[in-house]
Amino acid sequence: MKKVGVALLGLGVVGGGTYTILRDKHDYIAENEGIDIEIRCVLEKNLDRARELGVDPAIVTTDIERVLGDPDIAVVAEFFGGIEPARTFLIRSLEAGKSIVTANKEMFSKHWHELEAAAQKGGGGLYFEASCAGGIPIIRTLTDGMQGNAVTSIKGIVNGTTNYILSRMSDEGVDYAACLKDAQALGYAEADPTADVEGFDAMYKNSILSSLAYKRRVPVDMIYREGISHIAVEDINYGKELGYTLKLLAVSKCQGGKVEARVHPAFLPAGHPLSGVKGSFNAVFVHGDSVDDIMLYGRGAGALPTGSAIVSDIVFAAGKCAHRRFPWELGSEPDASAFASDFSSRYYIRLMVSDEEGTLSRIAGVFGNNGVSLASVVQKEAESSEVAVIFVTHETRESVIKKALAEIGQLSGVDKVAALIRVEE
Ligand code: HSE
Repeated sequence: MKKVGVALLGLGVVGGGTYTILRDKHDYIAENEGIDIEIRCVLEKNLDRARELGVDPAIVTTDIERVLGDPDIAVVAEFFGGIEPARTFLIRSLEAGKSIVTANKEMFSKHWHELEAAAQKGGGGLYFEASCAGGIPIIRTLTDGMQGNAVTSIKGIVNGTTNYILSRMSDEGVDYAACLKDAQALGYAEADPTADVEGFDAMYKNSILSSLAYKRRVPVDMIYREGISHIAVEDINYGKELGYTLKLLAVSKCQGGKVEARVHPAFLPAGHPLSGVKGSFNAVFVHGDSVDDIMLYGRGAGALPTGSAIVSDIVFAAGKCAHRRFPWELGSEPDASAFASDFSSRYYIRLMVSDEEGTLSRIAGVFGNNGVSLASVVQKEAESSEVAVIFVTHETRESVIKKALAEIGQLSGVDKVAALIRVEE
C-alpha cells in the first residue's frame, strides 16, 4: 500500500479536527483509498493541546525545518490563519517539492500566484477545498465537476457568523449588537469580529470561487465589499413584509466577458433556495450554462466539517502522481477593463421623511429625473410626524441610485436616507 507522510502545521480547531479524523479514520481511508496516511510531524507550541488530542509527543515540534527536511513528508497541511508565517512556510514546503493543503482564505486569495509559482518549481500541488464554505465541496465541484460548463454566476452564503446573526435578527427580532454578542459566546465570531461582520472573510472566499469559476484571477481589490454591522432589524422586518429574506451574499457574474464580484447584504425572495439557509450554515448556488443551477449546502465552519474538507484534500494530494496546474494566469496584474464595477441591481430604500404634502412627489421627481423606475412604494403610518417610506426599484445602476439618493437626501422634508439594500433575484 502507498504510504504517505503528512505534516500538520497547528492544532487549533481545524487542525485538531483534522488530526482526529486522520487518527480515527486511518484504517477506513487505507481500505477505501489504498493509502496509508502517516502523520509524521505536528508543528505546535501548545504541548497541552497536543496531549489533549493524544498526539505522540515525539512528533510534536516547533521547528519548521523538521518538516521541510523530512523527505518522507509529501503533504503539508496548514491551520495558522493570517498571512505570516503561513505564506512563508507553505512557499518553502512547495519549493521543497511537497504538496500543500490550506484552509487559509485570506492568505490564499492574496498570495495564490506566489504559491502556484513555488508549486511549479517543486512539482507539488495546491489544495484549498477548506478555504471556502468549510465542509462543502464547492472547490472540487467547480474544478472537477463542471468542466463542460461556462459558469455564469455564483451566489453564496459563505460566512456562517453573519448568517447566524441575520437569521436570529430575522426570526427573533433581536438587534444586531445582541446577536453579535451571542455569536461570540457560541464561538462563531471572534473577539474582534471585523473579518466576518464587515464582509472580509466572504470577500476572500468570493475571490477564490470567482477565480475558479471564470478562470481568471479575481483579486480581492476588484470585489465590492459591504458588511452587516449597519443593518437594522426594522429593515429586515419591512423586507419580510415585501416577501424578502436578508442574507450576506457573495455574488459574482460573468457577462459579456466582464466579471463583477461583490459582497453585501441582499434581500432575496423568500422562495429562493438560499433564503431557507439558516443559522451558521453555508450554501453556494452556481449557474453553469450546461448543468443549469446547482446548490450545495452544509456546515461552513467547525472542527470536523472543515477537517472533512482538509482530509479530502490530503487524500487527493496523496493519491496524485501529477498535480493540477492552473493554466490561466494567476500572477499578472488583472486588466481593470475585464471587470464591471458599476453593477446593476434592484434596490430597497428606506427614507425617513416628514409626513407633509409634497414630500413624496419631490422624491418621486428625483427618481424619475435620474431614470430610476420604482417597483413599489410603501409609507408606514406613524404617531410622530417622521415616517418611514420604503421604495423598491426596478433594476438600475449603482452609480445612478447613489446619485439619486444624494439628491434626495438634500430635499426639504427628507430627514435621512436610512437604508439602501440590494435586492437579488
Ligand atoms: N468565520 C467563518 C464563518 C468561518 O463565520 O463562516 C471560517 O471562514
